[in-house]
Amino acid sequence: MRALSLDEGAIEVEAVGMTMRFGSFTALDSVSIRVRAGSFHALLGENGAGKSTLVKCIMGYYQPSEGGILVAGREARISDPRAAHALGLGMVYQHFTLVPALSVAENLIIAARDTQGIINWRKARARLSEFMASMPFSIPLDQQVATLAAGEKQKLEILKQLWLGRKLLILDEPTSVLTPQEADQILGHVRDLCRAGRISVLMITHKFREVMAFADEVSVLRRGRYVGGGVVAELSQAQMSAMMIGAVTLAQPSPRIGQREGVVLEIGGLCATDRSGLKDISIDGLKVHAREIVGIAGISGNGQKELMEVLTGERPRRAGHVLVKGVRWDASRAKARRLNVRFLPEEPLRNACAPRMSVAENIGFRVFDGLGTGTQFWLRPAELRQHAAQLVRQFGVKTASLDAPISALSGGNVQRAVLARELTGKVDLLVISNPCFGLDFSAVSDIRARILAARNSGAAVLLMSEDLDEILELSDRVLVMSEGRITYDRPVAQAHIHEIGAFMGGAQ
Ligand SMILES: Nc1ncnc2c1ncn2[C@@H]1O[C@H](COP(=O)(O)OP(=O)(O)OP(=O)(O)O)[C@@H](O)[C@H]1O
Ligand SMILES: [Mg+2]
Repeated sequence: MRALSLDEGAIEVEAVGMTMRFGSFTALDSVSIRVRAGSFHALLGENGAGKSTLVKCIMGYYQPSEGGILVAGREARISDPRAAHALGLGMVYQHFTLVPALSVAENLIIAARDTQGIINWRKARARLSEFMASMPFSIPLDQQVATLAAGEKQKLEILKQLWLGRKLLILDEPTSVLTPQEADQILGHVRDLCRAGRISVLMITHKFREVMAFADEVSVLRRGRYVGGGVVAELSQAQMSAMMIGAVTLAQPSPRIGQREGVVLEIGGLCATDRSGLKDISIDGLKVHAREIVGIAGISGNGQKELMEVLTGERPRRAGHVLVKGVRWDASRAKARRLNVRFLPEEPLRNACAPRMSVAENIGFRVFDGLGTGTQFWLRPAELRQHAAQLVRQFGVKTASLDAPISALSGGNVQRAVLARELTGKVDLLVISNPCFGLDFSAVSDIRARILAARNSGAAVLLMSEDLDEILELSDRVLVMSEGRITYDRPVAQAHIHEIGAFMGGAQ
């Protein structure tokens, strides 16, 4: 079993002239960056800039078309992720890779299993206690992972990498599922580990605040090229954003126009079983009016997904009613079309796309429905393409071509493509989940402005988001969902962030 010994420490990793082509498209163009030993290095860039491609090359998921990697000053051949691991390179993803049913200790021990064969649990356990004691933060070894809060799970993911002897950690938006307090705590620990010389870190993030507060150095990519960077303390946020996107002006949110009107969505006495099959979600008296954004705050896993699934018809309800404009809602395509109901689920590539179909086809789906005019666009590929091309331009979707499969787009660009499709045409009810997850800052301001614009033109919007800033910025009314119930409901002017936080944490 490999575990950290004290003579192992941070290493320097350098990408030199890294180029990655996908067919005729160059996703990375001769990019060089150096992560110094023990430094906390941030990687910035707008959606589609090439950040994930770069780290996939470093981790051996991709073989770069040109260029190489130096690990601790020596040229390294990284033919696959195993080779990267053997060199001490590790990666922590946005989403957790732990086994929920097992304890913290079991998770760590099985993670190291393939380096040992048969597990001597007693010995492993003793080494693990020693390891935990040497760390600046710890997680109770006997706790079941399923019962850990998101922040604790992310800490465990990082501890796991150290336990496996990794000396350079790549973090891909590590704080996107955490509360701001949890994020600060974790990044503080990561910085301490860097300062102590135990690891070097390369972190992909879209949050300037995190870069300014925690990172030592930064590199910025734009359209596959290295466009600048340096010591964070010597750069301003404005300089970094200018490197990322150039001198473009951000979309200004339109001011709220008009008061709320009639009720569009009404949910009463709703009861459904949650994913675990053990708990219920139960929602009563939830109303969303025309020209109103109702924001549901809450830590993920408190029933938001289930509520979305009930509304999209993927989860049966055991009791209760859902009315849209007074009509019984059955989630059929026909009713969605007639009542102008649109959904923006999270993880759009999985939940709202046909991954192998092209960008044009995916954006055209709404048009496939015929727009109620009887026009059969799908028989007219030229029109479908033209429509898609227009939306791609309007929403700034970066794609090599309209014919590329949508799954080849970067995460943020898939999101933009789906938004382009769902926010086009007349919308009376919009149900959204985490619309800006993983988007760069210019996309965030763009998307939020569009959601406000939909509200201003009369749509009722139900917004579920784990991002409290987003909820407060957009909502007319703020609700909190906790343990499958709405436990808080105030007009935004009377909502207090600390109170909301307390309700998110389970206050009644
Ligand atoms: N397997 C692939 N095939 C074709 N094109 C790809 C592939 N992977 C990435 N690309 C393209 O390379 C570009 C860079 O993508 P990448 O995922 O590295 O962006 P990113 O900076 O991580 O963006 P985001 O912030 O949205 O995650 C994008 O235009 C994407 O469409
Ligand atoms: Mg990415």
